Amino acid sequence: MESYEYIDLSPSEYYVLHPRPVYLIVVVKPEGGLNVMAASWVTPISGEPPLVALAIGKDALTNELLMTRREFTINIVGEEYINEVYRAGSMSGKSIDKWSMLGFKEVKSMKINAPGIKNSYGFLECAVRSTHDAGESTLFIAEVLGVHVRKDLYGRYGWNYGKARILLHDRGRAFVLPGRKVFAEKLM
Ligand SMILES: Cc1cc2nc3c(=O)[nH]c(=O)nc-3n(C[C@H](O)[C@H](O)[C@H](O)COP(=O)(O)O)c2cc1C
Repeated sequence: MESYEYIDLSPSEYYVLHPRPVYLIVVVKPEGGLNVMAASWVTPISGEPPLVALAIGKDALTNELLMTRREFTINIVGEEYINEVYRAGSMSGKSIDKWSMLGFKEVKSMKINAPGIKNSYGFLECAVRSTHDAGESTLFIAEVLGVHVRKDLYGRYGWNYGKARILLHDRGRAFVLPGRKVFAEKLM
């Protein structure tokens, strides 16, 4: 059996946990209008009830908005959105109307006021259930109230990866695309 050597990195290199899927989070602003931010620290955490967790930086406008509006959509996007994702993740809605700048259009949600992004691969309607202090971030735990996926990209076996080029974030300007679906051996 081969024996591989390891390189020791500092704890600040937690980025080795990437790549992670990156999503666009949409929240309604109190004065009307929408804010959009990129987030890759987003994960499912419970099936019953369906809960997701998001770590959102305390400096982000999205953090402020989520504390008060308490509803948002998680938008799934692919390769064709790479520049929009990078911009939504590099500028704050505190100083620019990113929604208009990026030219996004809305798709109405069924249960909440925050809309999805038109032509995104899909979106989840979510309502914040609790918040937790987590260093420079707040961990938002939210219930999923609705899920919508594009008909042309989703089928009986889930995402069609030939068409749905779901974007993963590596670091900085670097992103990764899923290659191909592979299957583990069946259990006996
Ligand atoms: C690909 C990518 C992923 C990101 N993921 C997160 C994340 O999970 N949590 C976070 O707080 N910031 C994340 N950021 C940074 C925020 O998107 C960035 O701070 C943004 O300007 C916040 O926008 P807002 O102030 O309009 O809410 C990410 C940035 C990029 C480019």
